[in-house]
Amino acid sequence: MKKKILFICLGNICRSPMAEFVMKKMVEEAGVADNYEIASAATSTEEAGNPVYPPARRKLQEHGISCAGKTARQMTRRDYEYYDYIIAMEKRNVRDINRIIGSDSEGKISLLMDYTGTPHDVADPWYTGDFDSTWNDVEQGCAGLLNLLETK
Ligand code: 4NP
Repeated sequence: MKKKILFICLGNICRSPMAEFVMKKMVEEAGVADNYEIASAATSTEEAGNPVYPPARRKLQEHGISCAGKTARQMTRRDYEYYDYIIAMEKRNVRDINRIIGSDSEGKISLLMDYTGTPHDVADPWYTGDFDSTWNDVEQGCAGLLNLLETK
């Protein structure tokens, strides 16, 4: 059975799409893409329908990763039932997800950087414009997540 992963951030135009497309690339490179279903969504409706924010898109492109066709959407209760791993970028997302779904009764929610040796919120580039720090966090978090899922 496929492992289904949903990455979550506030707007679904910067951090969670970066995680989605980095993770897709990593599972492809590891030759295990068929074992995964990977997507991303927002806690808010703020950016619903909008494409990936241009600086985030450029950062992915620099690494040979396309995010063409992705548009932002808000997470739903159905997503909580459907996906196995709900992976948030920051603690605030966890609170907001719980507001949408009621409670994490199946223990599916975790933080991306918990899969690294240094748990912390993924760097938010929205106010800083620093997409390099976000890239580094996302790459480390996804590598740790893949390692865990593939050794389990
Ligand atoms: P994201 O970035 O949550 O990483 O997609 C943001 C996008 C939009 C807003 C904040 C962060 N906003 O305030 O609209």
